[in-house]
Amino acid sequence: MDISQYKPKGKINNKHLLTLRDYSSSEIFEILHRAALLKNLNRKGKKQKHLKGKTVALIFAKSSTRTRVSFEQGVRQLGGTPMFLSSADIQLGRGETIHDTVKVLQRYGIDAIMIRTFKQSDLDELALYGSIPIINGLTDDFHPCQVLADLMTVYEHYGRLEGLKLAYFGDGNNMANSLMLGCAKVGMKVCICSPKGFTPSEDIAAEAKKFGECTVTADINEAAKDADVIYTDVFFSMGQDADKKKKAALMPYQVNESVMALAAKDAVFMHCLPAHRGEEVTADVIDSPRSVIFEQAENRLHAQKAVMSLLIR
Ligand code: CP
Ligand code: NVA
Repeated sequence: MDISQYKPKGKINNKHLLTLRDYSSSEIFEILHRAALLKNLNRKGKKQKHLKGKTVALIFAKSSTRTRVSFEQGVRQLGGTPMFLSSADIQLGRGETIHDTVKVLQRYGIDAIMIRTFKQSDLDELALYGSIPIINGLTDDFHPCQVLADLMTVYEHYGRLEGLKLAYFGDGNNMANSLMLGCAKVGMKVCICSPKGFTPSEDIAAEAKKFGECTVTADINEAAKDADVIYTDVFFSMGQDADKKKKAALMPYQVNESVMALAAKDAVFMHCLPAHRGEEVTADVIDSPRSVIFEQAENRLHAQKAVMSLLIR
């Protein structure tokens, strides 16, 4: 289904946002519509009260600028109370179990948990033992909130999603996994361009292929050809040590002017940030008028507010 034909229903059936694996095209469209609505209300200075009286715990086991600030602001803008919990400061960081943590948080009236951590299985455990919505703020495997903001940004820029091609260059990481699922489900063509040894999960690629056009290649020309969006991410994700061999393998996949020149004439450049200029992308690309990185960063706020307003009831 194309997003332009989708009629918003004002609800989704999902209880959590663990990965876009669990989301249908319609559920993603519902979030994108709600996000646009909330963004518009924000621009007009209209009050939103979807989370009035609700408290959302924000647990971080890894660093963050965008996710932390956009969730804190998002909860406040929806009339709720955010509670930032660094896992280094709570007993979770000293080995207390996920099971005990979620049970205890619920006893204090926490209404939902957003968590950024390492293992995806920790989120599955939270969802299993708790009865409140769990939202993935990034794991080693997925970053669904980022991809929802990215799809919102592409939709705003082009006025459509169906048929557009996104080419991702670099490490086959959490972003590559989530982009494959998200793009395929909304009718975009997605191509991941990574060197041998750094390709994304074959399972996720196979799953994305069930929904739409998804290719994995080491060929830069093939990936960039006719791409409407050129996307990249850091060589080393949080929790990974910088390693010379990996850097040498990924450097040829740097997004620079020559890569942009292979893409469609008006292609935009995207990056989830933080970026390392001179590594995965050159300054002349990321700081050019074709770059929509700050629209993406802003849309984290609106997309996540949409997710929270639909999940936390
Ligand atoms: N893109 C993103 O998730 O940024 P942070 O690591 O700053 O949250
Ligand atoms: N792949 C990066 C994304 C940061 C938003 C990481 O996991 O560190």
